[in-house]
Amino acid sequence: MQKLLALILAIFSPISVLSLSYPVDNAGNPLPNSIETFYIDARTMWLNRDLTKSGRKDLNPALNKLYRIADAAVSDPVIYTVTAKPTDKLAPSGDPHDFYSLARYYWPGNSTNPLPYVRYDGYPNPEIFNIPDSDYLKTIIDDTFYLGLAYFWSGNESYAQFSVRKLNTWFIDPVTKMNPNLNFANWIKGYDALNSNSTTPLGTGLLDLAQVYKLIDGIQLIRKSPAYTADIHNALQTWFQQYSQWLTTSARGIFEGQSPNNQGTWYDVQVAAIYLFINQRDAAAATQRTTISRVNTQILPDGTQPFELARTLSWTYSNFNLLAMFAQGWLCQTTQVPLFTYTSPDGRSIPKALNYLMGFAVNNGTGWRNSSETNLDYDEIISLSKQAYVEYKDVKYIDFVNKMQTEPQIWNINKLWSPYGSFDAAPSSQSGSVGSRGMSGLGLLSYGWCIILLVTLM
Ligand SMILES: *[C@@H]1O[C@H](CO)[C@@H](O)[C@H](O)[C@H]1NC(C)=O
Ligand SMILES: *[C@@H]1O[C@H](CO)[C@@H](O)[C@H](O)[C@H]1NC(C)=O
Ligand SMILES: *[C@@H]1O[C@H](CO)[C@@H](O)[C@H](O)[C@H]1NC(C)=O
Ligand SMILES: *[C@@H]1O[C@H](CO)[C@@H](O)[C@H](O)[C@H]1NC(C)=O
Ligand SMILES: *[C@@H]1O[C@H](CO)[C@@H](O)[C@H](O)[C@H]1NC(C)=O
Repeated sequence: MQKLLALILAIFSPISVLSLSYPVDNAGNPLPNSIETFYIDARTMWLNRDLTKSGRKDLNPALNKLYRIADAAVSDPVIYTVTAKPTDKLAPSGDPHDFYSLARYYWPGNSTNPLPYVRYDGYPNPEIFNIPDSDYLKTIIDDTFYLGLAYFWSGNESYAQFSVRKLNTWFIDPVTKMNPNLNFANWIKGYDALNSNSTTPLGTGLLDLAQVYKLIDGIQLIRKSPAYTADIHNALQTWFQQYSQWLTTSARGIFEGQSPNNQGTWYDVQVAAIYLFINQRDAAAATQRTTISRVNTQILPDGTQPFELARTLSWTYSNFNLLAMFAQGWLCQTTQVPLFTYTSPDGRSIPKALNYLMGFAVNNGTGWRNSSETNLDYDEIISLSKQAYVEYKDVKYIDFVNKMQTEPQIWNINKLWSPYGSFDAAPSSQSGSVGSRGMSGLGLLSYGWCIILLVTLM
């Protein structure tokens, strides 16, 4: 142990070993002076920040990128609110506080009778871009996430202040707030999704808030800032309590939860993340166990995902469903629901589905039988493999990444909460670069974990 410690000190010197502690109580729960995030691995990020303060340099490109994004969010003059949309683009309710977006793959029926719209899967109707709500919400989610991260890493109160200002406009201020529901999201023109039944479509998903887990972690990261007042906190808790009520009891919410494909998985992700935020851990865990049961229904023993293969963009959606599985996997950090490690008796599991896709990616899509996608996009599967390397510690994932990437993404912001050297490590003078040219990725990774182990022991 002492030898190892000396080695670590040599690499990270000057370093204060005592600073390597993420404040937790005896039960392992975060103390008030630490942070609690649900998707992000808070302990690793805390440790990474300590090591960076002590002279570790490899995260600097990712930090520079983070601050560029956060500074752009600070100086963005646009005021993001659902009430900004023009009056001829309001939801069918006519209430400017109602979020409104159109179903992506639905088009006018025909020139004489545009209603009801009909589905052409895989062909987005550009009409969806005429309503700003969807893009605005995406911006609020991303801004909250990056401003929260920038605040945690820099301690600069400006980031927390701007984040609170944006959150207040979107969720709280009575003049500009969004109503806590997605009644009119992914709306199919010509159908009344609110007064419908199983014979007519109830819209096509609630994906506009699928990534709410990022927004929630962004909020968690500014909770100690004086800008994040008790009033703001209570108002956000109320909003998300009301929204979770809508998600789990409205016809549209229940319908979405019953979707057999990626929409159902993303539904679980948003329900679980929100339950964690509003302190309903048991309900979050129950939702995450539902995601485990989706492994049984969505992934076959050979790793195929038939509900996604049935889509026109079968490659995109096979990846997209796994992104939801992984997001939920990380959200299980708090609840300890064993989604990542679950394998059905006949061999269905998350790694099985990932390995199946990787097999096609390494051959540039050869044999991806029935997709109308000609140029397969590999960004998602590279990201999934990095996450898989962190979770499953199998060197084949980092080998895959090194094969697929032309150069390491040393600016990758996910590095900020990933174990040292787990992916995209900057070339280092001690060890050469990660991968075939230097110390193997696994070597560096176990190294990072030794440090974490030490920290845990100390
Ligand atoms: C804090 O961040 C703001 C917004 O980007 C910036 O203008 C300011 O210079 C930063 N302050 C410090 C002390 O770095
Ligand atoms: C247009 O749609 C209407 C209603 O769906 C249908 O009755 C009609 O035959 C369609 N016309 C053409 C030219 O396809
Ligand atoms: C379901 O909705 C359709 C269209 O609104 C309607 O024609 C039908 O009568 C409804 N069925 C039931 C059982 O409510
Ligand atoms: C693609 O292949 C799968 C598996 O053979 C099948 O279930 C699916 O319906 C096919 N999709 C299309 C769009 O043909
Ligand atoms: C991969 O396949 C696409 C589509 O067939 C092709 O355009 C591209 O050049 C291929 N890339 C490589 C590296 O072979």
